[in-house]
Parts: sequence; C-alpha cells; structure tokens
Amino acid sequence: MDEGIRIDPWSSQQSTDYSRIRDQFGLGTIERMDIPNPSMHHRRGIIFAQRDLDVVLDAARKNDPFGVLTGLMPSGRMHLGHSMVIEQVKWFQNQGADVSIAVADLEAHATRGMSLEQCRTTALKEYVLNYAALGLDSEQTSVYFQSRRPAVQRIGFTLGKRTTLSEMESIYGFQGDSNLAHIQAPLVQAGDILHPQFEEYGGLRPIVVPVGVDQDPHIRLTRDLASRSNWFNVKPRKAGGLSIALSIQDENASVFGVGERGRVDRDVRSNIFESIHNALSSFGFSDIISNPKHGLIEIPAATTRDRGSIRIALLRLERQLGGLGLLPPSSTYHRFAIGMTGDKMSSSRPETTIFLDDSVSDMEKKVKRAMSGGQSTVEEHRRLGGDCEKDVAFQYLLTFFEPDDAALEEIRREYSSGRMLAAEIKQICIDRASEWLTNLDEKRNSIVDQIDDFLAIDAL
Ligand code: TRP
Repeated sequence: MDEGIRIDPWSSQQSTDYSRIRDQFGLGTIERMDIPNPSMHHRRGIIFAQRDLDVVLDAARKNDPFGVLTGLMPSGRMHLGHSMVIEQVKWFQNQGADVSIAVADLEAHATRGMSLEQCRTTALKEYVLNYAALGLDSEQTSVYFQSRRPAVQRIGFTLGKRTTLSEMESIYGFQGDSNLAHIQAPLVQAGDILHPQFEEYGGLRPIVVPVGVDQDPHIRLTRDLASRSNWFNVKPRKAGGLSIALSIQDENASVFGVGERGRVDRDVRSNIFESIHNALSSFGFSDIISNPKHGLIEIPAATTRDRGSIRIALLRLERQLGGLGLLPPSSTYHRFAIGMTGDKMSSSRPETTIFLDDSVSDMEKKVKRAMSGGQSTVEEHRRLGGDCEKDVAFQYLLTFFEPDDAALEEIRREYSSGRMLAAEIKQICIDRASEWLTNLDEKRNSIVDQIDDFLAIDAL
C-alpha cells in the first residue's frame, strides 16, 4: 500500500520527490506566479512551492506593509543549508518586507539542554553575524529571543486550546513517551510566526515564512490554529461569489448574540451584521445577502481575488470586537541542497556541508572528496558525459556559488557533454566558493561591531 511521504522536522530521512510532496501536502506551485525581480533560487526552481504567496506579492505590489519571519535554533555552526533561508529573507526584504527573526532559545533550552546564556552567545556570534554578513539590512531587521517576549509565549499557550494531543501526534508522530518540551515547542513557534501581526509588533499584515519543506508541518499547524481562532470564515460559494460565516466560539458567543441553549439575541446579531456591512462598504458590492439568524452573509459578485482583502477587512473588525484577528501565515518552500557525501546535509557531520566560517583549505578538501557525477574513466566520461544532477560541485554552483545563469548553463553544457572533466568542474566550484567564503569573511569582520543594530529593543 502507498503510505505516502511522511515529512517531519526531526526526521533523518529526506524525500526529494518534490512534485509528489507538493501534491500530497496541497502546496501551491510557483511556476505561474508573477514573481518580481526573481532571485537565482526562483529562476532555477529551487523554490518550488508556496502557500498563499499571492497575498504577500499583492501587498508588495501595492506597497502595503508585509513581513517575513524566520527562526533559528542557536545550536552548532551555521552552514550552507541555513544560508538558503536567509537568501530568501533578503529577497523579501528587498521587495519591501520588514524582517523578524526568532531566536528559538526556549526551544533549544528545553530540547537540547542549552542554557539561555549559551543560546544568546551562539545566536549573536554565529547566526546574527552571518545574517548581517549575508546582507540583511539592519534598519528593517528585528532579532528577538523567545525567552524575552511574553507575547510569543502567551499566544503559544492560548493557541494550545485550538488543538489536541491526537492532532499533534498525527502531524508530528509524537507518542506517549514523547517529551512534553517537544510537544510544546511547535506551539511556541506558532507564537513566533503569528505575533508580528499584533499591534505592538507591526499590526495586521501578511507574514511570509520561507522554509525547507521538512518544516511544513509547523506551517500547517500554525495556519490551522490561526484559522480556527478566526471569528469570520470567508469561503467560495457553490453558486459563485463568496460567503462569510460567523464562527461561534466561547470567546465571542456574547458578542455574536448567542445566549443560553444557542438562543440568538436579535438586536445584538443585527448590530454585528451592520458592522459587517460597514466593513464591506468600501468594496462597493451591490448585492449582499444577509441571514443574521444563521450567521451567514453571501456576496454573489465577489471573486476569489477579493477574498484576501475581504478577509483582512473582517480581521480588522474581529479585532475591534475583541478577537485576535490573525491572518494565517504564507510560506515558500525550497528544495534541499544535497549533502557533499551524496546524502543529507547535517551539522553533526561536517563532511556533508560547508560551514560559513570554514577556511578555504577545509572547503577545498571537502569539495575534492565530494560526490561526483563524473564517469569512472576519462574515456567513459568523454563518451557519456557527467551527471549534473548528482554532481555536488555542479549542484553547489547552481544553488550557492554561480549567480550568473549564462555562466552556469555553459558549465552544464560542457560537463554533461563530457568536454569538462570531474576534476575541472570541482576546480571551478572551489574557485567560486573560495571567492564567496572570503567575501563573507570580510563582511563579517567589517560588521562585527554592529550586531546590536539588528536586535529588537527587548533583545538588547
Ligand atoms: N524550530 C526551528 C528550527 O529548528 C526554529 C524556529 C523557531 C523557527 N521559530 C521559528 C523557524 C519560526 C521558522 C519560523 O530551526
């Protein structure tokens, strides 16, 4: 029987069947989206899927505010795999996003036994320093610590009532013997992702979270928690148009005029409906069908394109009425770069990746030993050509070190035709990587005194 692909953030397995992953998890494609100033990751299909990215691109197009958020585990050293997310954060920043970065110190403390003090040192010296060197702009970046932001912890706690142990088990594979810290961490992380929408952290606006596809369970959980907390559900209507349904919950029952045994107070309900009409007035729909008793509003003329702005208008109303008013986060997904040995890239096995502060000579050794797509003899290689798909040198040029598309295509042609040998493509990779590492090292040295500029006030 086909069991499907199990993806979870803690697995050592890694599927690379990306179109299957996309279908199985209901992710959207990137191909037909109109991405402005596409980065090399967009152009090369490395970013291969998304959820609700259109909401973010719309905001960017209209110069409306939007944010990008990522988080880091302050353990170990930063390597090439980590830099992929930062490249995307940087791209969103260039399109106008404000940047929030969560240091997952509570998570690292609870699940990896690190002290908060150790977490802080590692986060600043290792991660934030490299983020700065990779080109994030300190003016629009705000790094904070989970342990120092009660809002994050509070919302993580509050949202706990929107899920159950069985759901956490089925999303993450938790079992009876799972550590509670592990079960709590995804809720705190949902707090990370959602809290930038609070008034004191920038207010209601789309937030996008770029991740590797193994992190999708976190995104799904967070999106579900946010939608479940919403007071108004906007859905496509069978007969065309959109419908808005009140979502009656403990928190809003009295506001929505629901009394004992579900009895509806007509006056309260009709006031709510008037507020909804007001919230929708600027859209200019001529026909709005109201059914206050059943808590339903239908807008036959609305299109799916209106859905985003209608949702935002209703989240504003929800906030006025006392709700959280949370927009589910958007996300983008990138493919994993292969590990240098041909299997998964991992901080715990240094030979599988290049660390951002590796010396040029260490990098050179790793590239020389890396998995090659070359044939076993020169004669055979000339005849059959090299395999770019499994050649680490080629893949690293594609993913990290060769930004020039024409130059990359030239290398691909030469190598796959057999004119270029395995040792030659490795040398090209070494040259480009050494330029890249040296450049990064210089940037780190020039910016090391300015790390505080990246920190939020509560992180200083
Ligand atoms: N749990 C993530 C990791 O293991 C770190 C993290 C914490 C995070 N909060 C986040 C990632 C929010 C993305 C968004 O690396």
